[in-house]
Amino acid sequence: MSQRSPDLEGRVAAITGASSGIGEATARRLAAEGMDVAVGARRGDRLGKLADEIEAEHGVEALAVETDVRSMVDVHGFADAVEDALGPVDLLFANAGTGEGGRVEATSEEAFETTIDVNLVGAFRTAKAFLPLIRDAEGTRTIVFTGSVSGTVPMAGSSAYVASKHGVRGFARSLAQEVADEGIRTTAINPGYVNTRWHEGHPRADDMVQPEDVGELVVTLATMNDTAMIDDVRVWPAKMYSE
Ligand SMILES: NC(=O)c1ccc[n+]([C@@H]2O[C@H](COP(=O)([O-])OP(=O)(O)OC[C@H]3O[C@@H](n4cnc5c(N)ncnc54)[C@H](OP(=O)(O)O)[C@@H]3O)[C@@H](O)[C@H]2O)c1
Repeated sequence: MSQRSPDLEGRVAAITGASSGIGEATARRLAAEGMDVAVGARRGDRLGKLADEIEAEHGVEALAVETDVRSMVDVHGFADAVEDALGPVDLLFANAGTGEGGRVEATSEEAFETTIDVNLVGAFRTAKAFLPLIRDAEGTRTIVFTGSVSGTVPMAGSSAYVASKHGVRGFARSLAQEVADEGIRTTAINPGYVNTRWHEGHPRADDMVQPEDVGELVVTLATMNDTAMIDDVRVWPAKMYSE
């Protein structure tokens, strides 16, 4: 077992969008640091398997809660289950997200609304439900949102996703101002091209940012000196940087 960070060992993390990709990799990474982890998403079968594997591999507690971030009731249910099973939350990773392309005329109102509902309002619901649990924890605490490079640039053919991720970044930095003086650091991680199911079959998948790279960054954000925080960061594939 590699050296665990004393800043993380024995503490509690809650992660949305943890049934695959970035969220799953980050759950595994935080558990490797000795954190108890609560994982939420809609695919309960995958979450249950992940929690079992994490407990067996890392000797921490793992809690799987089927959660749809489009529902405030569901997200509150996730937070309540975490409080009952694991207690206060030291690290929240609001990562659930969805994205469909399409030029404006080809995008239905429903598709646009769903994208905003999952990515932006879902981030709000997650923060709102978990803030009391984060306040109950002691010491430096960390909230991380998954934005996107798409939240920093315009992109023809992707307006719903781009709008949702611009919103996530603005929301994250506004929340950061609300909670900073309580010792709660808030960051939006904005990746571009992460090798998840979104890019299955892409010829340069191996050159993309790997989900584990984002997990590593979450660890860095949560363990850096507590006099500093990063509010907003873009993460590019090292060999595929273009803007
Ligand atoms: N891959 C990239 O290139 C890239 C780049 C920039 C940003 N991102 C962002 O990274 C995050 C994770 O994406 P990923 O690339 O790791 O792809 P992924 O494997 O598809 O992960 C998305 C996660 O969000 C969950 N999710 C989707 N809708 C949900 C809902 N209504 N309620 C609860 N959970 C929901 C999914 O689980 P269920 O389907 O089981 O609910 C899944 O666990 C997203 O926010 C995405 O926008 C990805």
